[in-house]
Amino acid sequence: MKLWDKGSHPDAKVDRFTVGNDRELDLALAKYDVIASKAHAAMLGKIGLLTSSETDALTIELDLIGSDIAKGNFTIEDEFEDMHSKIEYLLTQRLGDTGKKIHTARSRNDQVLVAIQLFLKDELGQIRDMSVELFEQLIALAEKYKGVQMPGYTHLQVAMPSSFGLWFSAYAESLVDDMYMLNAALKVVDQNPLGSAAGYGSSFPVDREFTSDRLGFYTQKYNVIAAQMGRGKVEKITSFGLATLAGTLSRFSMDICLYMSQNFNFLSFPEEYTTGSSIMPHKKNPDVFELIRAKCNKIQAVPNQLTLLVNNLPSGYHRDLQLTKEVILPALQDMKACLDMISSALPSINVNEHILDDPKYKFIYSVESVNELVQQGVPFRDAYKQVGEEIRKGTFEPKRALNHTHQGSIGDLCLDKIRLKMKAALQQ
Ligand code: ARG
Repeated sequence: MKLWDKGSHPDAKVDRFTVGNDRELDLALAKYDVIASKAHAAMLGKIGLLTSSETDALTIELDLIGSDIAKGNFTIEDEFEDMHSKIEYLLTQRLGDTGKKIHTARSRNDQVLVAIQLFLKDELGQIRDMSVELFEQLIALAEKYKGVQMPGYTHLQVAMPSSFGLWFSAYAESLVDDMYMLNAALKVVDQNPLGSAAGYGSSFPVDREFTSDRLGFYTQKYNVIAAQMGRGKVEKITSFGLATLAGTLSRFSMDICLYMSQNFNFLSFPEEYTTGSSIMPHKKNPDVFELIRAKCNKIQAVPNQLTLLVNNLPSGYHRDLQLTKEVILPALQDMKACLDMISSALPSINVNEHILDDPKYKFIYSVESVNELVQQGVPFRDAYKQVGEEIRKGTFEPKRALNHTHQGSIGDLCLDKIRLKMKAALQQ
């Protein structure tokens, strides 16, 4: 059954090609189509296009459909083009003419938009919550291990003293940046597009303020063409937020993979978070973190995919936009799976508290020696040369006492300040 059935029947091949995997993807969005349809029905009642008993009947049936969706009992068979068609069919089957009235003053174009925006709001909210959980874990680990030193690297060459406190809280503070990006995405997504209909509004006196309030949107996308142009854009800005966060997680995972290598041996995870080899009995591989790295790298390609998908489309609806779903939905799934996995694994991380016993790391203290001479009045360049000479002659003896006291250094991690920054970001 096509909502736009004109009597002729399109080729099955055309149907398969144009619908693609959209029915399957719509199952994740159907819940939101129901929520928006309820607001739309109430609005139609308010402006007198439905009687109150018609609105009530539609609301009751939509609630029933909503609970079927929640129970996993909602299906979109091949005879229906999408979730919108199936839901309208169910309403019509159960309510007759009242069901046929639900589509007054709307189009699938604003219907799919509003469903996607409600969905993205929920997803971004979940991702924000999960990021905050990870943030708290990282801050707690930083606090716990602030006294445990490790080598810092530049060019992958042993460089200067660092600490697990500094390393863990570096990723915590990076998550604050990512929160700013997620907030920006949320702000753009949080504008009601419903009422834009096919993208040019309606001759019915649609009350868009009413549906905005009902649906909990912060504001509406007033201009109906701008609302329709949100399709693709809301997904894209969400993907920018995801990509930024993914960048943080993939680097963190890369560090973990590197530090788990025997050549580094800075940290380890219990066996349940590692995987074995089919041939080498000794292996404890970091597959978990390799896959977080890979998934997060894939997520960083999503803004590009969406950009290319919608790039040169003129204003107005185009079927191209349907394909944004198959790009953004899996990216959101992957992101949640990665956050969940990191947060599950992190509490059982073991850090090596004796890394610096290995003599190869003694040169991380070279700058400490230079700075000590500077404190005694030796000009920096001369002090640098003097310590360099000791290193060349093999007489350098590290002084392991550290005097890093400035904000953001090993000696003052500013964890409270970073916490406050995150708190402020969350209130935005
Ligand atoms: N499945 C379609 C999409 O996601 C729904 C909107 C269809 N609108 C239309 N005018 N054909 O874009």
